[in-house]
Amino acid sequence: MTLDTLAIARILHILGVIIWIGGMAFVTLVVLPIAAKLPDSETRADMFERLERRFAWIARAAVLVVGISGTVMADGYGLWAQFIQASGWWLDAMAGWWIVFFLILFVAEPLFLHRRFSQFLRRDSDRALKFLTRAHWVLLLVSLCVVAAAVAGVHGY
Ligand code: HEM
Repeated sequence: MTLDTLAIARILHILGVIIWIGGMAFVTLVVLPIAAKLPDSETRADMFERLERRFAWIARAAVLVVGISGTVMADGYGLWAQFIQASGWWLDAMAGWWIVFFLILFVAEPLFLHRRFSQFLRRDSDRALKFLTRAHWVLLLVSLCVVAAAVAGVHGY
């Protein structure tokens, strides 16, 4: 693999991470608090569903870009052995977190999460949005820790 391919993979990896985690930060810190304050519960549910539906596709594309570019780099830099060494814990953190999102966005969402949450939102939008905000905070904080771990790991801190 040429150095150019690895450089492009690294650039795409970081751009994917920015769009994915940055988008999640925007949903958590801006969209959800605004949706929760809308007075009418039907509008609240509707606004949230439209925004989330649109962002879900962006997040799916970003997750695929991050996964493919990460695999290209792991292969190109010959890092597979490091995945099973204690010193490569940050590689496991990235890959593990990626798998969690892959399962949420590509398996749970289309299979049952979207339908179940939509029902919850129409039944009790107050509680549904509170639950969702908490879940997004957890996902966002863990994601930021994984980014910090990746940067620290790559630079040998
Ligand atoms: C299948 C999943 C993933 C794989 C295989 C993977 C693999 C890699 C590899 C091989 C590198 C470069 C290591 C080096 O230069 O020695 C890297 C860099 C990086 N990854 Fe991942 N990654 C994955 C997912 C993620 C996720 C989910 C995040 C963030 C939440 C992430 C954030 C980063 C960051 C920020 C860097 C750059 C660190 C730097 O250059 O300072 N990666 N990743």
